[in-house]
Amino acid sequence: MSFNGVDMESVDAILIVDRSGNIVYSVRYNPRFDNSSVQNDFADIINKSFLEIYPELDIEESTIMNCLKYGTPQYLENQIFRDNKGRVYNTQNLTLPIIKRGKISGAIEISRDITKVNEMNEGLKTRKTIHIPVTKKTDNGKNTAKYTFDDIITKNEEMKCNIEKAKMIANSTSPVLVYGETGTGKELFVQSIHNYSKRHNEPFIAQNCAALPENLFESILFGSVKGSFTGALDRPGLFELADGGTLFLDEINSMPNGLQAKLLRVLQDGVIRRIGDSKARKINVRIITAMNKDPIKSVKRGDLREDLFYRLNVVSIKLLPLRKRKEDISLYIPYFIDKYNKKLGKNVSGISKEVKDLFYKYHWPGNVRELQHMIESSINILNSGNIQLKHLPIYLIENTNVDTADTDIKETRPLKQEIESLEKQLIINALKKTSGAITDAADILGIPRQTLHYKMKKYSIRRNTYK
Ligand SMILES: Nc1ncnc2c1ncn2[C@@H]1O[C@H](COP(=O)(O)OP(=O)(O)OP(=O)(O)O)[C@@H](O)[C@H]1O
Ligand SMILES: [Mg+2]
Repeated sequence: MSFNGVDMESVDAILIVDRSGNIVYSVRYNPRFDNSSVQNDFADIINKSFLEIYPELDIEESTIMNCLKYGTPQYLENQIFRDNKGRVYNTQNLTLPIIKRGKISGAIEISRDITKVNEMNEGLKTRKTIHIPVTKKTDNGKNTAKYTFDDIITKNEEMKCNIEKAKMIANSTSPVLVYGETGTGKELFVQSIHNYSKRHNEPFIAQNCAALPENLFESILFGSVKGSFTGALDRPGLFELADGGTLFLDEINSMPNGLQAKLLRVLQDGVIRRIGDSKARKINVRIITAMNKDPIKSVKRGDLREDLFYRLNVVSIKLLPLRKRKEDISLYIPYFIDKYNKKLGKNVSGISKEVKDLFYKYHWPGNVRELQHMIESSINILNSGNIQLKHLPIYLIENTNVDTADTDIKETRPLKQEIESLEKQLIINALKKTSGAITDAADILGIPRQTLHYKMKKYSIRRNTYK
């Protein structure tokens, strides 16, 4: 098979990881380290981080990590790497993102073992590097900021103020914290700030903090010197790579607590030290962070250190969910229809009145990204005319009249209330599943029957409602 520069005759292994890089599935049909004809690695590696199994991989070159980062297909013609048992592989990989409602939720890698053992051993002697990268890589597999403020479409006053504010602070060196639900445009804002600043010709390095295993995070951020830990190489960290430019730390609330303390120190001192290095290096990096949770709630929950929060929040930009700026829906519809008509060579003219009504009623948990994907998928199955209800995914129609809890990021409830409301919802869900059968519901919830009774009374939940 040869298309788009991908040249692959066949494959003999499949690996699936979730969005944090944890291995969900792995099978090899030509195992070289095992007598069987098929090697399922389940017992050994399932649920472990991909980077833990392949500790020497260069994270910047890993097809899996790049696929999770950019959400684009990755192809490597020739990759040599070693697993945590010291076994050496030489493979050809094609990695595709797994997208759920428009969001990267994992990656699948199909690969072909192209090891020629003797050649490879020679190769390893002469080449010190463990990972021999690429030949071909997609254009998107780069750390660049492509969006500018012109890409941010809105007629909502609060969002327009956000754009003005972001422009004003673009040249300052103060940290910026951008928060808003998933798909509200945080990435768009962060990249636009970088591109609007004097640093726009300098590096823009983005890292999702939820996508890194805890044990490797520190060395990726600060770098390492050879021998400082097993598999450590002389390598700069993201701070050094971003020197002179912008370092974007996404989902900062997922950063391990200890590392948050170290990050705070770097922000205060302006110097970093590679792991195992005695030398301090001065860095000039603008830090922008983002999260899709309310920062105050995250501080209360203990996910975000309070001291770091105050440091990061010097400038904060809060993006509104789409359901709080429904006027924007009328801008996005023609904008995305036009975009996908061009991209897919179609001639769709608009949406029917029923679809429009539905779009205004729906609560858009995936925000602008969800609307964009809805339009894209409808245009895929249509050549011209209006998008009708029948072109939309069934979940949209089913979920629109439901009384959905407003997950507005603005409301901050005390933690106890949050937990109670979640507990109540879980009990209701369990009772719905068991049609009101208390013993079964208690089983699902993993609590004694008496406890469930007590809690139902506390929350005034009546089993008859679910019979
Ligand atoms: N204001 C906007 N104007 C035009 N397109 C937008 C806007 N906001 C979001 N989008 C579209 O939605 C997509 C998702 O936006 P973005 O990646 O910035 O979301 P996010 O807030 O970073 O979400 P997540 O928390 O899931 O990472 C963008 O690629 C863009 O196409
Ligand atoms: Mg994002």
